Amino acid sequence: MNILKYGYFDDENKEYVITRPDTPLPWINYLGCESYFGIISNTAGGYSFYKDARLRRLTRYRYNNVPTDFGGRYLYIRDNKKKEFWSPTWQPTRSKLEQYKCRHGLGYTIISSFYKKIEAKIRYIVPLGDNLEIWQLSIKNHRKNSVDLSIFSCIEFCLWNAIDDSANFQRNFNTGEIEIEDGVIYHKTEYRERRNHFAFFACSESLEGFDTQRENFLGSYRGWENPIVVESGQSSNSNAFGWSPIGSHHINLILNPNESKQIILILGYHENNVDNKFDPIGTQKINKKTVKEVNPINVEKAFASLNNYWNNLLNIFHVNTPDIHTNRMVNIWNPYQNMITFKLSRSASFFESGISRGIGFRDSNQDLLGFMHMVPTEAKKQILDLAATQLITGGAYHQYQPLTKKGNQDIGSEFNDDPLWLVLSVSAYLKETGDLSILDELVQFNNEPGTEQPLFNHLQCSLQYIHDRLGPHDLPLIGRADWNDCLNLNCFSDNPDQSFQTTKNKEGKVAESVFIAGLFIAALKEFIKILKQKNSLDETKLYLEWAENMNSAILKYGWDGEWFVRAYDNFGNKIGSHECEEGQIFIEPQGYCIMAGVGIEEGFAEKALNSVKSKLATPHGIMLCQPPYSQYYIHLGEISSYPPGYKENGSIFCHTNPWIMIAEAMVGHGDQAHDYYTRINPSARETISEVHRCEPYIYAQMIAGKDAPTFGEAKNSWLTGTATWNLIAVTNWILGIRPTYNGLSISPVIPKNWSGFKATRIFRGVKYHISVERIGTGNRSMLYINEKQIEGNIIPFPPSGINEMFIDVKIT
Ligand code: BGC
Ligand code: NOJ
Repeated sequence: MNILKYGYFDDENKEYVITRPDTPLPWINYLGCESYFGIISNTAGGYSFYKDARLRRLTRYRYNNVPTDFGGRYLYIRDNKKKEFWSPTWQPTRSKLEQYKCRHGLGYTIISSFYKKIEAKIRYIVPLGDNLEIWQLSIKNHRKNSVDLSIFSCIEFCLWNAIDDSANFQRNFNTGEIEIEDGVIYHKTEYRERRNHFAFFACSESLEGFDTQRENFLGSYRGWENPIVVESGQSSNSNAFGWSPIGSHHINLILNPNESKQIILILGYHENNVDNKFDPIGTQKINKKTVKEVNPINVEKAFASLNNYWNNLLNIFHVNTPDIHTNRMVNIWNPYQNMITFKLSRSASFFESGISRGIGFRDSNQDLLGFMHMVPTEAKKQILDLAATQLITGGAYHQYQPLTKKGNQDIGSEFNDDPLWLVLSVSAYLKETGDLSILDELVQFNNEPGTEQPLFNHLQCSLQYIHDRLGPHDLPLIGRADWNDCLNLNCFSDNPDQSFQTTKNKEGKVAESVFIAGLFIAALKEFIKILKQKNSLDETKLYLEWAENMNSAILKYGWDGEWFVRAYDNFGNKIGSHECEEGQIFIEPQGYCIMAGVGIEEGFAEKALNSVKSKLATPHGIMLCQPPYSQYYIHLGEISSYPPGYKENGSIFCHTNPWIMIAEAMVGHGDQAHDYYTRINPSARETISEVHRCEPYIYAQMIAGKDAPTFGEAKNSWLTGTATWNLIAVTNWILGIRPTYNGLSISPVIPKNWSGFKATRIFRGVKYHISVERIGTGNRSMLYINEKQIEGNIIPFPPSGINEMFIDVKIT
């Protein structure tokens, strides 16, 4: 165990342990993995929601607040004799705790502390199968004398719609409604009107008092750090009527020396079916029952089944390599982050406010790639939901709301790479499961009844959409933007109130993307394999031709001599070329063209990768472009609005780094691939937490590039395609274990100084025990089953009944 300034990894318990509360930024975790979700920081900040952080927000949170990270799942402990109080989670009182520990685990967080010999430990968990969160407080008196304590809980309710909640005060100050029965606080603003749902906050103990009106609890002009009720030790039993409903319980407790006690609090969401929404007051029986059932034994059970759930998921792919950072990320944290991105896309983190972005079409189709092997059934559902937001044109809504599953009108469509990602997620699903029936599922277009067509046709539409939109160089037109949301070549915005993503001042018939060209070929190649699975060999001809044509267009117009060009702008000029003054080279086309196989034979791939190494790579990772733009260019859009080194303008935009790792592995450079992997691996960066600043157990979207004064500083942690792609790069390409239509393929491209590695992978119901030994310095691997060498690198599916296979691999 290596305890650094802010904490350490506890690999055995699959936890990151934070040992001081004042981390450089709040280091957060997620509770819940089904419908009920919470974000929780290392000092108990954060909020909860049901399915949709925008439309069903349970508790309020103020982003960009000062001091930072105020508002959360708070408890106050008051020594009634000494009239002194503190927060066992440090915030909000920030009292000087004698000991503090926060354990972020998979789906739970435990914060413990000592203050003047009173020990408190709170375990926060969302049990599987329930729409509620449990706070389990264990409190122990280590003093020589007995102590008279008051415990106050507090959460602030959000009036459901988080956008309206933060804006429409003239109405909202009048609508808040609470009901209290048997010590359970029900938040029921708009309940029985347009809503069939309410929240409840309950406590296992009988109450000394309660509060539900914020001002009564805090006192006027006071903050969370010194509520009047806690200071005086007396709840006011307030009943919120308008203004700002909160939930606060007051429990009194005498603890003898060495005595301990458990208190359980539950915050939950309940939805009546719509017909029952007008049930009379007091009939919310289900919740009262739920509240009673939650006792310490049930909490232990819930905790055990959550751990079990995760252990089963993590068992599907497990590795033991010579590198601890690889093991830790592959076995624990990377799949965990992938689950969160899979569930929440880019909607709710400490950088994504939960109100601005829903489920991204491009994003979620990519997120699926890294979680497919763990939850194929859920992946299937998600694929079908995404496909249903495709438009009849083949284009797609850029985002949808998880609650309604309908495309977001305000952002619309025309991000021309979007439809292609659907082909990639479907093909990954097919390889993982072999379930070709998904292709026949009838799926609507634009969620309109009557428009159903087989999913297979959706894929055809996706490809057709690109094929029908080629520009002057026969390369795909870029539309509003491709993967790089900030390369807005048709936007020409001179008005700060316009959105870079949706404004379109040019017709869009000229600007082209070499990145989409590469992605198009990659998608076509996958689609051709799908056609082969369907025995539709005749149809492959057309798509092969499209791929060949696009390949020629890239080689003719997309090759700059030392690297791939990025795009052509609205005037037909190159972007990402040595001819440009700024933005001469971009990472995206180097990654995706090579991944699509473009230029490998011609030696362009090697050249492009050399250029990446000499022009874009830094010790903190590979930058998105160089040199960054030093001023705003109206014909380039948002990218040039960022200061050099930040975000798309030359930061290490981590999402794209694995594309280069994959490309390096494809051309046989195991050392280089793994070196790039390590540069952005959060665990490997733990020792530089003061520079990196974000969580050391989770990937961040960006790390400031070399042109920024904060070079090496990460931002936008958690919700990023970085998570999925890193797991793909390291497992499928560096470790080389990939699902295919014909069986599990194994062809590692590992560093030269690795003696080998071991892995287990459950694939289509069979557990493969893989043992890899390096006997030479190259990349040629030979596969043995029961000491008998097989031909090629794909282990054929075993006959049914065999559910375990032992594979030896020798690399020469
Ligand atoms: C960000 C992008 C993001 C886009 C859409 C831009 O400001 O830089 O990373 O994808 O907004 O929300
Ligand atoms: C974040 C967005 O979620 C993603 O869709 C996009 O590809 C990247 N930013 C790059 O702009």
